[in-house]
Amino acid sequence: MPFKIIELENKQIDESKQGEATMIAPKVIGGKKLFLESYGCQMNFSDSEIVASILIDKGFTTTQDYKEADLIFLNTCAIRDNAENRVRQRLQDYKKIKKTKPEAIIGILGCMAERLKSQFLEEEKLVDLVVGPDAYRDLPNLIDQAEHGQRAINVILSKEETYADIAPLRLDKNGVSAFVSIMRGCDNMCSFCVVPFTRGRERSRDPQSIIKECKEAFEAGYREVTLLGQNVDSYLYSGGGLKKEKLTEEQKANSTNFAQLMEMVALIHPDLRVRFSTSHPKDMTDDVLEVMAKYENICNNIHLPVQSGNSNVLERMNRGYNREWYLDRIAAIRRIIPGCGISTDVIAGFCGETEEEHQDTIRLMNEVQYDFAFMFIYSERPKTLAERKFKDDVPEEVKQKRLAEIVALQRQHSEYHTRKQVGTVTKVLIEGESKKSPDMLMGRNSQNSVVVFPKDNHKRGDYVLVKVTSSTASTLIGEAVDLDAGQ
Ligand code: SAH
Ligand code: SF4
Ligand code: F3S
Repeated sequence: MPFKIIELENKQIDESKQGEATMIAPKVIGGKKLFLESYGCQMNFSDSEIVASILIDKGFTTTQDYKEADLIFLNTCAIRDNAENRVRQRLQDYKKIKKTKPEAIIGILGCMAERLKSQFLEEEKLVDLVVGPDAYRDLPNLIDQAEHGQRAINVILSKEETYADIAPLRLDKNGVSAFVSIMRGCDNMCSFCVVPFTRGRERSRDPQSIIKECKEAFEAGYREVTLLGQNVDSYLYSGGGLKKEKLTEEQKANSTNFAQLMEMVALIHPDLRVRFSTSHPKDMTDDVLEVMAKYENICNNIHLPVQSGNSNVLERMNRGYNREWYLDRIAAIRRIIPGCGISTDVIAGFCGETEEEHQDTIRLMNEVQYDFAFMFIYSERPKTLAERKFKDDVPEEVKQKRLAEIVALQRQHSEYHTRKQVGTVTKVLIEGESKKSPDMLMGRNSQNSVVVFPKDNHKRGDYVLVKVTSSTASTLIGEAVDLDAGQ
C-alpha cells in the first residue's frame, strides 16, 4: 500500500531544510518496526524511499514513534557542519532508548555515514550500523549482523548502482508530487563540496526504468515528478554499462541525454508535470531550454546555483564557469522561456572572498533578480579541495554580515516577483491544505510559486486556475476562477 506522510509543505527541501528532519516514515502494523528519519536534500529523501522499499519487502513495518521502534535509522547529510551537528543532537535522544530497550538497533545512513565511515562507530558507541548511499541493498544482511551483536558497516561506493529496479515506497505527504532519481553521484569536484566524497562517481540511470517509475507514479495518482540529480544537465545514458568519458562521438549520439529524457517524461501524459533539480550552469544547454519551452507540462522553473557573482571566487570554487558565462545562461533562459522562474544557491564568505568580490555577488543578484534563493555561509568540509588548498579566512562576523546582506536583498527580489503576479491568473496543481488554515488549499504554479486559495470544492491533485489577489514575499494569495477564464 502507498504511504502518505511527512511534514513537508515546501518540496524544495534540497537546501532550505538541509540538516532538518524532512521525513519520517509512516506507521504500518505488524512485523519488526522501523523508524526512518531523513535529513538533507531531495536525493536523500528519494533514497529513503528506496530504503523503505527494500525493508518492507523483507517484512519490516514502519512506525512514526521511535520509542516503539526496533530499528531507528537516520538518513544523514554532511553538506555543512551544522547539518552534521543536528544529526548528532538528534542521535542523543535516540540513544537514550538503549537504556530501556538495549536490543533496539540504531543505524546511520547516507552522506554522514559515508564521510565518517568506521569513525562514526568509534565516536558514537551506541550506533550499531553505518551504511553509505550505495550500500542499501545490503541492509537486510547488515541488520542481521547487528541483531547478532556485531557492529555492521558497509560504505562501499559503487560506479554502477542506481537502484533502477527498486520501486520506491512513496513517503511523501501529499501523494501529488514524487521525486525520481535519474542519476547518482557527482564528478564535479567543486572545491567547497563534500558530495563527490559522500556519493561517489556520477552515473546515469537507465531511461526505461525512469519512464516506468514516472508512469507508475502517474497511475497511482501523482501529478508531478521531479527528476533528481546533482547535475541533471550531465545526464547521459548509453546502455551497455559504458562510462561517459569512454564513449565515442557516435556512441554519444546514440545515447539518451537530459533533454531527450525530459521529453520522454513529458510525453507520458499532459497532466503529469515535470520538474528537475539541479541544473549546473556549466552544462546547461539550449536543448534543455527548448524542450522546456515546447511542453506545457514541463514547469517553467530553473534552479541554477550561482554560488558567487565573482569570476575569481568561481575559479577558486572550481565551478567551471565565470560570471559572464553564467549571465549568458540566464539570458538564454529569458530568451527561450520568457517568464521562467529562476532560483539559485549562494555561498557567503568563501575562502579569500574580499568585500569587492562579495559586492559582485550583490551586483549579480541585482542583475538577475532571482525569484528565490537558498543562501549559506561557507562551511569548510574535511578532505575537500578548498580545505586542502585554501584558508577559511573570512572571519565569522564578516560571513554573517555578508549573508545578512544577501538575504535582505533576496527578500526584496522575492517580494517583487510575487507582487508582480498580483492580478494575473495562474494554473496551480493542488498539493493539499494550507498549513495556516484548513479552509484554504495550497499548490504551486509552473514557476514554483506557492499559491493559497479558498478550498470550495477543489481537491488535492486537481489543476485549478487561480486569480492572484495579494502576495507576501513567499506566497501568492487568490481565488479559483473558471477553467475557461484563460491563463
Ligand atoms: N549539486 C548541486 C548542489 C548540491 S549542494 C549544485 O551543484 O548546484 C547544495 C548547495 O549547498 C550548493 O549549491 C551550495 O550552495 C551549498 N553548499 C555546498 N557545500 C557547501 C559548503 N561547504 N558550505 C556552504 N554551502 C555549501
Ligand atoms: Fe557539489 Fe559541485 Fe557536485 Fe553540486 S556540482 S554536488 S556543488 S561538487
Ligand atoms: Fe546532504 Fe548528501 Fe544531499 S551531503 S545535501 S544529503 S547529497
